[in-house]
Amino acid sequence: MYTPESVQGLMLATQEWLEKTSEGPSGQPSLGEFLEKDVESLQAVLRFHEFRYYVENQALISDGQYDQLYKTLAAIEALHPQWVRADSPTQRVGSSLNQNFTTLPHLVPMLSLDNSYNADDLTDFDRKAREGAKGEILAYCVEPKFDGASISLVYENDQLVRALTRGDGVAGEEITQNIRQIRSIPLSAPFSSLGIEQIEIRGEIILSKQAFDAYNQKLIEKGESPLANPRNAAAGSLRMKDPKEVAERNLDGFFYHISHVQSTSGQLAFDTHAAALDLLWKMGFRSPQKEKKVFADIEGVIAFCAQYEAQRDDLPYEIDGMVVKVNQLALQDRLGMTSHHPRWAIAFKFKARQATTVLRQ
Ligand code: IVH
Repeated sequence: MYTPESVQGLMLATQEWLEKTSEGPSGQPSLGEFLEKDVESLQAVLRFHEFRYYVENQALISDGQYDQLYKTLAAIEALHPQWVRADSPTQRVGSSLNQNFTTLPHLVPMLSLDNSYNADDLTDFDRKAREGAKGEILAYCVEPKFDGASISLVYENDQLVRALTRGDGVAGEEITQNIRQIRSIPLSAPFSSLGIEQIEIRGEIILSKQAFDAYNQKLIEKGESPLANPRNAAAGSLRMKDPKEVAERNLDGFFYHISHVQSTSGQLAFDTHAAALDLLWKMGFRSPQKEKKVFADIEGVIAFCAQYEAQRDDLPYEIDGMVVKVNQLALQDRLGMTSHHPRWAIAFKFKARQATTVLRQ
Protein backbone atom coordinates (compact mmCIF):
# COMPACT_ATOMS: atom_id res chain seq x y z
CA MET A 1 0.00 0.00 0.00
CA TYR A 2 2.82 2.39 0.90
CA THR A 3 5.51 2.61 -1.76
CA PRO A 4 8.81 4.40 -1.06
CA GLU A 5 7.47 7.31 -3.14
CA SER A 6 4.19 7.53 -1.25
CA VAL A 7 6.06 7.35 2.07
CA GLN A 8 8.23 10.23 0.95
CA GLY A 9 5.14 12.26 0.00
CA LEU A 10 3.42 11.48 3.29
CA MET A 11 6.50 12.43 5.32
CA LEU A 12 6.71 15.74 3.46
CA ALA A 13 3.05 16.35 4.17
CA THR A 14 3.66 15.39 7.82
CA GLN A 15 6.43 17.96 8.08
CA GLU A 16 4.26 20.64 6.52
CA TRP A 17 1.35 19.88 8.80
CA LEU A 18 3.57 19.90 11.89
CA GLU A 19 4.99 23.29 10.91
CA LYS A 20 1.57 24.69 10.03
CA THR A 21 0.07 23.62 13.33
CA SER A 22 2.91 24.51 15.70
CA GLU A 23 2.35 27.61 17.70
CA GLY A 24 4.70 30.11 16.10
CA PRO A 25 5.18 33.79 16.93
CA SER A 26 1.95 34.52 15.08
CA GLY A 27 0.03 31.94 17.14
CA GLN A 28 -2.07 29.04 15.81
CA PRO A 29 -3.18 29.27 12.17
CA SER A 30 -6.84 30.00 11.67
CA LEU A 31 -8.62 26.68 11.27
CA GLY A 32 -11.25 28.26 9.03
CA GLU A 33 -8.71 28.64 6.23
CA PHE A 34 -8.51 24.94 5.47
CA LEU A 35 -10.18 23.30 2.49
CA GLU A 36 -11.65 19.84 2.01
CA LYS A 37 -8.47 18.66 0.28
CA ASP A 38 -6.47 19.69 3.36
CA VAL A 39 -8.69 17.52 5.54
CA GLU A 40 -8.18 14.61 3.17
CA SER A 41 -4.41 15.16 3.28
CA LEU A 42 -4.36 15.25 7.08
CA GLN A 43 -6.55 12.13 7.30
CA ALA A 44 -4.12 10.31 4.98
CA VAL A 45 -1.14 11.48 7.05
CA LEU A 46 -2.70 10.23 10.30
CA ARG A 47 -3.76 6.92 8.73
CA PHE A 48 -0.16 6.40 7.59
CA HIS A 49 1.22 7.06 11.07
CA GLU A 50 -1.34 4.69 12.62
CA PHE A 51 -0.03 1.99 10.26
CA ARG A 52 3.60 2.74 11.13
CA TYR A 53 2.90 2.71 14.85
CA TYR A 54 0.28 0.01 15.31
CA VAL A 55 0.97 -2.41 12.45
CA GLU A 56 4.68 -2.05 11.75
CA ASN A 57 5.78 -1.00 15.24
CA GLN A 58 8.07 1.59 13.66
CA ALA A 59 6.80 5.04 14.47
CA LEU A 60 8.19 7.91 12.43
CA ILE A 61 6.84 10.70 14.63
CA SER A 62 6.49 11.08 18.39
CA ASP A 63 3.24 10.50 20.29
CA GLY A 64 3.12 14.25 20.95
CA GLN A 65 3.38 15.05 17.25
CA TYR A 66 0.67 12.51 16.45
CA ASP A 67 -1.59 14.12 19.07
CA GLN A 68 -0.90 17.58 17.65
CA LEU A 69 -2.00 16.47 14.16
CA TYR A 70 -4.96 14.49 15.48
CA LYS A 71 -6.25 17.47 17.47
CA THR A 72 -5.91 19.73 14.44
CA LEU A 73 -7.90 17.30 12.29
CA ALA A 74 -10.60 16.98 14.97
CA ALA A 75 -10.82 20.79 15.23
CA ILE A 76 -11.11 21.33 11.46
CA GLU A 77 -13.66 18.53 11.16
CA ALA A 78 -15.68 20.12 13.94
CA LEU A 79 -15.92 23.28 11.81
CA HIS A 80 -16.82 21.31 8.67
CA PRO A 81 -18.84 18.23 9.64
CA GLN A 82 -19.65 17.63 5.95
CA TRP A 83 -15.99 16.71 5.36
CA VAL A 84 -15.89 14.01 8.02
CA ARG A 85 -15.52 10.62 6.38
CA ALA A 86 -16.43 7.39 8.14
CA ASP A 87 -12.83 6.21 7.82
CA SER A 88 -11.28 9.37 9.27
CA PRO A 89 -8.91 8.54 12.17
CA THR A 90 -11.16 10.68 14.39
CA GLN A 91 -14.11 8.38 13.74
CA ARG A 92 -12.92 5.42 15.76
CA VAL A 93 -14.07 6.80 19.07
CA GLY A 94 -17.68 5.80 19.29
CA SER A 95 -20.34 7.05 21.60
CA SER A 96 -23.02 4.43 21.13
CA LEU A 97 -23.23 3.35 24.74
CA ASN A 98 -25.28 0.28 25.55
CA GLN A 99 -24.83 -1.28 22.21
CA ASN A 100 -27.11 -4.20 21.54
CA PHE A 101 -25.14 -6.87 19.79
CA THR A 102 -27.27 -8.36 17.04
CA THR A 103 -26.51 -11.75 15.57
CA LEU A 104 -25.66 -11.79 11.85
CA PRO A 105 -24.53 -14.59 9.53
CA HIS A 106 -20.93 -14.93 8.37
CA LEU A 107 -20.48 -14.90 4.58
CA VAL A 108 -18.66 -18.23 4.95
CA PRO A 109 -18.91 -20.37 8.12
CA MET A 110 -15.98 -20.06 10.54
CA LEU A 111 -14.37 -23.46 10.94
CA SER A 112 -12.10 -24.58 13.70
CA LEU A 113 -8.92 -26.59 13.28
CA ASP A 114 -8.01 -30.15 14.08
CA ASN A 115 -5.19 -30.40 16.63
CA SER A 116 -1.83 -32.13 16.63
CA TYR A 117 0.49 -32.48 19.62
CA ASN A 118 3.70 -34.08 18.39
CA ALA A 119 5.84 -34.91 15.36
CA ASP A 120 3.95 -38.17 14.70
CA ASP A 121 0.63 -36.32 14.46
CA LEU A 122 2.16 -33.90 11.94
CA THR A 123 3.66 -36.75 9.91
CA ASP A 124 0.22 -38.34 9.84
CA PHE A 125 -1.34 -35.09 8.65
CA ASP A 126 1.32 -34.82 5.93
CA ARG A 127 0.66 -38.38 4.73
CA LYS A 128 -3.08 -37.74 4.38
CA ALA A 129 -2.53 -34.39 2.68
CA ARG A 130 -0.16 -35.97 0.16
CA GLU A 131 -2.64 -38.74 -0.53
CA GLY A 132 -5.30 -36.11 -1.22
CA ALA A 133 -2.90 -34.10 -3.41
CA LYS A 134 -2.51 -37.14 -5.64
CA GLY A 135 1.13 -36.57 -6.46
CA GLU A 136 0.94 -32.83 -6.96
CA ILE A 137 3.83 -30.98 -5.32
CA LEU A 138 2.71 -29.57 -2.02
CA ALA A 139 4.18 -26.92 0.30
CA TYR A 140 3.21 -25.84 3.81
CA CYS A 141 2.94 -22.35 5.19
CA VAL A 142 3.43 -22.25 8.96
CA GLU A 143 2.57 -19.35 11.29
CA PRO A 144 1.84 -18.78 14.98
CA LYS A 145 -1.50 -19.75 16.49
CA PHE A 146 -2.51 -16.56 18.22
CA ASP A 147 -4.18 -17.04 21.57
CA GLY A 148 -7.08 -14.61 21.49
CA ALA A 149 -10.65 -14.26 20.29
CA SER A 150 -11.45 -14.95 16.66
CA ILE A 151 -13.31 -12.40 14.56
CA SER A 152 -14.43 -11.86 11.02
CA LEU A 153 -14.33 -8.52 9.18
CA VAL A 154 -16.20 -7.55 6.02
CA TYR A 155 -15.04 -4.68 3.77
CA GLU A 156 -17.32 -3.46 0.99
CA ASN A 157 -16.19 -0.85 -1.50
CA ASP A 158 -13.03 -0.39 0.60
CA GLN A 159 -14.88 0.41 3.83
CA LEU A 160 -15.07 -1.72 6.97
CA VAL A 161 -18.80 -2.43 7.17
CA ARG A 162 -19.07 -5.25 9.67
CA ALA A 163 -17.15 -7.10 12.36
CA LEU A 164 -18.57 -10.28 13.86
CA THR A 165 -17.47 -12.56 16.68
CA ARG A 166 -17.18 -16.24 15.90
CA GLY A 167 -20.50 -17.08 17.60
CA ASP A 168 -21.55 -20.61 16.66
CA GLY A 169 -19.41 -20.46 13.50
CA VAL A 170 -22.40 -19.82 11.24
CA ALA A 171 -23.49 -16.51 12.76
CA GLY A 172 -21.80 -14.17 15.23
CA GLU A 173 -22.48 -11.02 17.17
CA GLU A 174 -21.99 -7.70 15.46
CA ILE A 175 -19.25 -5.79 17.30
CA THR A 176 -18.17 -3.31 14.60
CA GLN A 177 -18.15 -0.30 16.92
CA ASN A 178 -15.79 -2.04 19.33
CA ILE A 179 -13.50 -3.23 16.56
CA ARG A 180 -13.20 0.34 15.27
CA GLN A 181 -11.40 1.18 18.54
CA ILE A 182 -8.44 -1.02 17.57
CA ARG A 183 -5.99 1.25 15.84
CA SER A 184 -4.12 -1.49 13.98
CA ILE A 185 -7.33 -2.37 12.13
CA PRO A 186 -7.86 -0.18 9.05
CA LEU A 187 -11.27 1.47 8.77
CA SER A 188 -10.77 1.43 5.01
CA ALA A 189 -8.33 -0.33 2.70
CA PRO A 190 -7.71 0.01 -1.06
CA PHE A 191 -9.12 -3.37 -2.11
CA SER A 192 -10.81 -1.81 -5.15
CA SER A 193 -7.34 -1.25 -6.63
CA LEU A 194 -7.30 -5.08 -6.99
CA GLY A 195 -10.84 -5.21 -8.35
CA ILE A 196 -12.14 -6.49 -5.00
CA GLU A 197 -15.64 -5.23 -4.14
CA GLN A 198 -16.30 -7.31 -1.06
CA ILE A 199 -13.92 -9.30 1.13
CA GLU A 200 -14.26 -11.28 4.36
CA ILE A 201 -11.15 -11.50 6.52
CA ARG A 202 -10.53 -13.70 9.55
CA GLY A 203 -8.21 -13.03 12.42
CA GLU A 204 -7.61 -13.04 16.11
CA ILE A 205 -8.00 -10.18 18.55
CA ILE A 206 -5.24 -10.33 21.12
CA LEU A 207 -3.88 -8.37 24.01
CA SER A 208 -0.09 -8.06 24.20
CA LYS A 209 1.47 -9.30 27.43
CA GLN A 210 2.34 -5.69 28.23
CA ALA A 211 -1.18 -4.36 27.59
CA PHE A 212 -2.58 -7.23 29.67
CA ASP A 213 -0.29 -6.48 32.62
CA ALA A 214 -1.06 -2.76 32.41
CA TYR A 215 -4.77 -3.45 32.34
CA ASN A 216 -4.60 -5.82 35.30
CA GLN A 217 -2.55 -3.28 37.22
CA LYS A 218 -5.34 -0.74 36.70
CA LEU A 219 -7.94 -3.23 37.91
CA ILE A 220 -5.92 -3.98 41.04
CA GLU A 221 -5.52 -0.26 41.76
CA LYS A 222 -9.31 0.09 41.51
CA GLY A 223 -9.71 -2.78 43.96
CA GLU A 224 -11.13 -5.12 41.31
CA SER A 225 -9.99 -8.67 40.55
CA PRO A 226 -7.41 -9.07 37.81
CA LEU A 227 -8.28 -11.06 34.66
CA ALA A 228 -6.98 -14.61 34.30
CA ASN A 229 -5.17 -14.41 30.94
CA PRO A 230 -4.90 -12.26 27.79
CA ARG A 231 -7.29 -14.54 25.86
CA ASN A 232 -10.12 -14.07 28.34
CA ALA A 233 -9.35 -10.36 28.49
CA ALA A 234 -9.54 -10.07 24.67
CA ALA A 235 -12.76 -12.08 24.41
CA GLY A 236 -14.41 -10.11 27.22
CA SER A 237 -13.30 -6.80 25.70
CA LEU A 238 -15.03 -7.47 22.40
CA ARG A 239 -18.43 -7.65 24.07
CA MET A 240 -18.13 -4.59 26.25
CA LYS A 241 -21.01 -2.15 26.04
CA ASP A 242 -18.89 0.97 26.05
CA PRO A 243 -16.53 1.36 23.06
CA LYS A 244 -14.44 3.87 25.05
CA GLU A 245 -13.61 1.16 27.55
CA VAL A 246 -12.61 -1.09 24.66
CA ALA A 247 -10.21 1.62 23.44
CA GLU A 248 -8.57 1.75 26.88
CA ARG A 249 -7.65 -1.91 26.74
CA ASN A 250 -5.21 -1.41 23.83
CA LEU A 251 -6.31 -4.48 21.92
CA ASP A 252 -4.48 -5.65 18.87
CA GLY A 253 -5.23 -8.04 16.04
CA PHE A 254 -3.56 -10.45 13.65
CA PHE A 255 -5.33 -11.32 10.38
CA TYR A 256 -4.47 -14.62 8.74
CA HIS A 257 -7.25 -15.75 6.43
CA ILE A 258 -9.31 -14.45 3.52
CA SER A 259 -12.51 -16.47 3.57
CA HIS A 260 -14.42 -14.80 0.76
CA VAL A 261 -13.72 -12.44 -2.13
CA GLN A 262 -16.09 -10.91 -4.62
CA SER A 263 -14.22 -9.20 -7.41
CA THR A 264 -15.00 -7.52 -10.71
CA SER A 265 -12.69 -9.91 -12.56
CA GLY A 266 -14.11 -12.96 -10.80
CA GLN A 267 -10.51 -13.99 -10.11
CA LEU A 268 -8.50 -14.10 -6.92
CA ALA A 269 -5.51 -11.78 -6.65
CA PHE A 270 -3.48 -14.55 -4.91
CA ASP A 271 -3.03 -18.27 -5.35
CA THR A 272 -1.17 -19.28 -2.20
CA HIS A 273 -1.77 -18.69 1.49
CA ALA A 274 1.59 -16.91 1.76
CA ALA A 275 0.49 -14.52 -1.02
CA ALA A 276 -2.81 -13.89 0.83
CA LEU A 277 -0.80 -12.87 3.93
CA ASP A 278 1.33 -10.55 1.78
CA LEU A 279 -1.79 -9.04 0.23
CA LEU A 280 -3.33 -8.39 3.65
CA TRP A 281 -0.11 -6.74 4.80
CA LYS A 282 -0.02 -4.53 1.67
CA MET A 283 -3.62 -3.50 2.35
CA GLY A 284 -2.58 -2.28 5.80
CA PHE A 285 -3.46 -5.25 8.02
CA ARG A 286 -1.25 -6.80 10.63
CA SER A 287 -0.89 -10.28 9.12
CA PRO A 288 1.78 -12.80 10.18
CA GLN A 289 3.60 -11.93 6.96
CA LYS A 290 7.00 -11.72 8.67
CA GLU A 291 6.37 -14.58 11.12
CA LYS A 292 5.24 -17.15 8.54
CA LYS A 293 7.57 -19.55 6.77
CA VAL A 294 7.00 -21.86 3.79
CA PHE A 295 8.37 -25.44 3.74
CA ALA A 296 8.53 -28.10 1.05
CA ASP A 297 8.48 -30.96 3.56
CA ILE A 298 7.03 -31.85 6.95
CA GLU A 299 10.47 -32.25 8.57
CA GLY A 300 11.08 -28.53 8.10
CA VAL A 301 7.62 -27.81 9.53
CA ILE A 302 8.31 -29.94 12.62
CA ALA A 303 11.66 -28.24 13.27
CA PHE A 304 10.12 -24.75 12.85
CA CYS A 305 7.30 -25.58 15.31
CA ALA A 306 9.85 -26.79 17.90
CA GLN A 307 11.97 -23.69 17.39
CA TYR A 308 8.98 -21.40 17.92
CA GLU A 309 7.86 -23.32 21.01
CA ALA A 310 11.31 -22.82 22.55
CA GLN A 311 11.01 -19.06 21.95
CA ARG A 312 7.40 -18.49 22.89
CA ASP A 313 8.24 -16.64 26.10
CA ASP A 314 10.29 -14.08 24.17
CA LEU A 315 7.29 -13.01 22.09
CA PRO A 316 5.38 -9.87 23.11
CA TYR A 317 2.05 -11.74 22.88
CA GLU A 318 0.74 -15.20 23.79
CA ILE A 319 0.63 -17.99 21.25
CA ASP A 320 -0.61 -21.47 22.10
CA GLY A 321 0.82 -23.29 19.10
CA MET A 322 1.46 -23.05 15.38
CA VAL A 323 -0.87 -23.46 12.42
CA VAL A 324 0.29 -25.54 9.46
CA LYS A 325 -1.55 -24.80 6.19
CA VAL A 326 -1.23 -26.26 2.72
CA ASN A 327 0.14 -23.28 0.84
CA GLN A 328 -1.52 -23.66 -2.58
CA LEU A 329 -5.17 -22.57 -2.57
CA ALA A 330 -6.05 -24.91 -5.45
CA LEU A 331 -4.81 -27.82 -3.34
CA GLN A 332 -6.73 -26.54 -0.31
CA ASP A 333 -9.88 -26.70 -2.43
CA ARG A 334 -9.11 -30.19 -3.58
CA LEU A 335 -8.52 -31.42 -0.02
CA GLY A 336 -11.76 -29.82 1.21
CA MET A 337 -13.05 -30.33 4.72
CA THR A 338 -14.65 -32.75 7.14
CA SER A 339 -17.83 -31.59 8.89
CA HIS A 340 -15.68 -29.69 11.43
CA HIS A 341 -12.24 -28.96 10.07
CA PRO A 342 -10.44 -28.20 6.85
CA ARG A 343 -8.25 -31.13 5.73
CA TRP A 344 -5.64 -28.66 4.49
CA ALA A 345 -4.69 -27.19 7.86
CA ILE A 346 -3.87 -28.36 11.35
CA ALA A 347 -3.03 -26.68 14.65
CA PHE A 348 0.14 -27.82 16.39
CA LYS A 349 -0.55 -27.24 20.07
CA PHE A 350 2.28 -26.37 22.41
CA LYS A 351 2.59 -28.26 25.68
CA ALA A 352 0.48 -26.66 28.38
CA ARG A 353 2.55 -24.52 30.66
CA GLN A 354 3.13 -25.90 34.13
CA ALA A 355 1.02 -23.86 36.49
CA THR A 356 3.33 -22.64 39.20
CA THR A 357 1.68 -22.50 42.56
CA VAL A 358 3.51 -20.89 45.40
CA LEU A 359 2.67 -22.58 48.67
CA ARG A 360 2.89 -20.37 51.67
CA GLN A 361 3.75 -22.09 54.89
S1 IVH B 1 -6.74 -20.62 10.46
C1 IVH B 1 -10.14 -22.34 8.03
N1 IVH B 1 -4.67 -19.44 11.56
O1 IVH B 1 -7.45 -21.01 16.19
C2 IVH B 1 -9.11 -21.51 8.70
N2 IVH B 1 -6.54 -19.95 12.96
O2 IVH B 1 -8.66 -23.83 16.69
C3 IVH B 1 -9.20 -21.59 10.15
N3 IVH B 1 -6.26 -19.20 15.29
O3 IVH B 1 -10.67 -20.80 14.84
C4 IVH B 1 -8.38 -20.72 10.96
N4 IVH B 1 -4.25 -18.33 15.06
O4 IVH B 1 -9.62 -18.67 15.97
C5 IVH B 1 -5.92 -19.96 11.77
N5 IVH B 1 -2.79 -18.38 12.39
C6 IVH B 1 -4.00 -18.87 12.59
C7 IVH B 1 -4.63 -18.84 13.85
C8 IVH B 1 -5.90 -19.39 13.99
C9 IVH B 1 -5.27 -18.56 15.90
C10 IVH B 1 -7.51 -19.64 15.97
C11 IVH B 1 -8.75 -19.38 15.15
C12 IVH B 1 -9.31 -20.75 14.88
C13 IVH B 1 -8.75 -21.55 16.00
C14 IVH B 1 -8.69 -23.00 15.60
